[in-house]
Amino acid sequence: MTSLSDIRSTFLDFYARAGHEIVASSPLVPRNDPTLMFTNSGMVQFKNVFTGMETRAVRRATTAQKCVRAGGKHNDLDNVGYTARHHTFFEMLGNFSFGDYFKDEAIPFAWELLTRDFGLNRDRLLVTVYHTDDEAAQIWKKVAGLTDDRIIRIPTNDNFWMMGPTGPCGPCTEIFYDHGPGIWGGPPGSAEEDGDRFIEIWNLVFMQFEQFEDGTRRDLSARSIDTGMGLERIGALLQGKHDNYDTDLMRALIEASAHATSADPDGPGKIHHRVIADHLRSTSFLIADGVMPSNEGRGYVLRRIMRRAMRHAHMLGAADPVMHRLVPALVRQMGAAYPELVRAEALIAETLRLEETRFRQTLERGLRLLDDEMARIPEGADLPGEAAFRLYDTYGFPLDLTQDALRERGRAVDVAGFDAAMTAQRAKARAAWAGSGEAQDARIWFDLAERHGATEFLGYDTERAEGVIHALVQGGAEAGSAARDDEVLVVVNQTPF
Ligand code: ALA
Repeated sequence: MTSLSDIRSTFLDFYARAGHEIVASSPLVPRNDPTLMFTNSGMVQFKNVFTGMETRAVRRATTAQKCVRAGGKHNDLDNVGYTARHHTFFEMLGNFSFGDYFKDEAIPFAWELLTRDFGLNRDRLLVTVYHTDDEAAQIWKKVAGLTDDRIIRIPTNDNFWMMGPTGPCGPCTEIFYDHGPGIWGGPPGSAEEDGDRFIEIWNLVFMQFEQFEDGTRRDLSARSIDTGMGLERIGALLQGKHDNYDTDLMRALIEASAHATSADPDGPGKIHHRVIADHLRSTSFLIADGVMPSNEGRGYVLRRIMRRAMRHAHMLGAADPVMHRLVPALVRQMGAAYPELVRAEALIAETLRLEETRFRQTLERGLRLLDDEMARIPEGADLPGEAAFRLYDTYGFPLDLTQDALRERGRAVDVAGFDAAMTAQRAKARAAWAGSGEAQDARIWFDLAERHGATEFLGYDTERAEGVIHALVQGGAEAGSAARDDEVLVVVNQTPF
């Protein structure tokens, strides 16, 4: 069986032979994009190269990029563990051209790698293109000999890739694998596309435009290539599995979890092991990149993931903290490809141990409170927002942990009620502060924190970073602008200072 490690290096070596520099994964906390919570795609570290703001010595690069998708709107956290293909952490394999080659080389590269090096059956492959992209369709026909019915034109944003509301973007072509009629599902663009029969394995983006906040677009001066293939997905395919968690790497982590908890990896606790395996990866890599659990920003996303995993370990009947004992298994699997994991091993284990020790002190009491509340409300009703808030405030249960716990019972949380309870508590804290005799101008910090969230400290990991300026404060009041020689306080979203 080809291991995920082998697949990763086959990919990188293929592009290295074709003149691409193998560039190391960038950190999960983006250094060049203060608006992004976590690196979520291979192109993030090259964003400014695509727009022309930054130049690099090389015009071709290839990476295995660590990615986390666990915050913001496209949040995979809820589904992780329950489905075959959701992760909070995954690796994206990619090749990049910075104004060098374009579609007519990117497509043949991808086809050759898939059908020759990876040995995929070409009759199982089909592609989508953006509906107006005749050029890409022609290249596919010529290079791969695909018939028209296997070059599907998609008129939606599914085939126009954007990193966010602003930034480099362009039409894309996606490569799909057809598992055959034995599995339910329809081709991309059909009503049954969400089934498991047709699986997207690779996205090739033809970077051509830059999108601005006001909705306008300009042509990039140099047309470029950005591609992304999930290692876990291609790994499952090449290992003949339908579930990413059955690949060698994920399986090793699941078995470590089973060993540490003495619970059958495939028994009734199966989902718990899957959640633990996934969350072990995201939490360990985040800690290795300088994120520490906290109650704000990135640190809070980390804490939410950690605590979610810890509840699942508790459900497996673990009497003592578990997560820190799994770190060596992760380092064995991924330390060679990501040496930062080896360097941070002790810090990761200690951070997990402390957090789990602390959380376990309130976990059981919180779960009892949850049981009591559930017994009190009518069949099928949502958990009242105040109860979810009490779990958060007193027992350290992030909202999604409570939601996850209720999901098993087919129940939900009244989220609007939770938000209202949170707002009410903030208002109380602010009133208490104003009445404490402290300087009145201190109130401005409450206003700013409420509006923008706390400033995030990046200094554990870096001495240079970019930030977004949220506010200027002059003489205890917010200022719209500042002139030369003015003395102002600058409030940014993140800083190493
Ligand atoms: N940046 C592209 C993606 O994330 C390749 O799908």
